[in-house]
Amino acid sequence: MKTFTAAALLALVAMVTVHAEDIPIGAASSLVAYSPPPGAGSWASIQAPGAFNGSGEFLLGQADKGTITISPPQAFTSFKFFGYQRSDGGIYSITFDGAAAHRIDVFNKTSTGDDGPLLLFSVSDLANTPHKVVISNLNDARVGKPGQMNIDHVVISTAPATPAAPAPAPTTPTPTPTPTPTPTPTPTPTPTPTPTSTPDVPIVSSDPADTAPSTVDPAADQNSPETNDTGAAPSLRATPVFVAAAAAALAFLI
Ligand SMILES: *[C@@H]1O[C@H](CO)[C@@H](O)[C@H](O)[C@H]1NC(C)=O
Ligand SMILES: *[C@@H]1O[C@H](CO)[C@@H](O)[C@H](O)[C@H]1NC(C)=O
Ligand SMILES: *[C@@H]1O[C@H](CO)[C@@H](O)[C@H](O)[C@H]1NC(C)=O
Repeated sequence: MKTFTAAALLALVAMVTVHAEDIPIGAASSLVAYSPPPGAGSWASIQAPGAFNGSGEFLLGQADKGTITISPPQAFTSFKFFGYQRSDGGIYSITFDGAAAHRIDVFNKTSTGDDGPLLLFSVSDLANTPHKVVISNLNDARVGKPGQMNIDHVVISTAPATPAAPAPAPTTPTPTPTPTPTPTPTPTPTPTPTPTSTPDVPIVSSDPADTAPSTVDPAADQNSPETNDTGAAPSLRATPVFVAAAAAALAFLI
């Protein structure tokens, strides 16, 4: 039972480790927050070509103040950003838990409004914890201003596609040998001497004529003390005191 449980657990861990789960989060998801607050001249939901889940979010004004915050509740090690390239420039800063800013380059001089969203940034070596992702618009020196900011969707992965440590599970786990249970010795029941039977023998055999049973070989008795000894037994049996004591014991027990 223990062996089965351990093997099942290993198999489960192996499945979780090997098969990373990709979770897409669209621009309209409640897990994504926008600054400045969405509204006129700010963030707007636009049904852009090829948009994931029907629409992307575009910052229509105040581009220099644009911020996107994504806070998925689950742990993830991989993150992908999909957005629309812009011909008027665009470069974003992206941080995970406030550390190590990366750049997302959105500028493409030849892109048009007919183009669909593209994978513009990905990272896959994050610690396996939940992360707060903050994306901010920066001034793009190539065009001398912050470009129009936008987001189509992101994809987080709950585990690395390639496990860092070799998973012990792909090979069939060697079943832990079930320890052979040490057989509990069945206690030999100690025969409880029946108190009434002991006195019976001397009483019945008190007759000196019975002290030498014909079936018992006196010669064999010499070598087998365990067998009826014709020498020792008679003195015991014949002792009137013993008989009396036995009779008294019997009477007491009854
Ligand atoms: C798709 O959009 C709806 C709102 O239109 C939103 O509630 C839902 O979370 C979105 N799906 C994903 C995967 O982002
Ligand atoms: C830039 O946009 C053009 C036009 O849509 C496209 O063909 C090209 O692949 C894009 N360049 C990059 C690096 O994405
Ligand atoms: C001793 O003799 C009695 C009666 O003859 C017999 O029942 C008993 O088994 C004998 N005991 C041994 C140890 O030989």
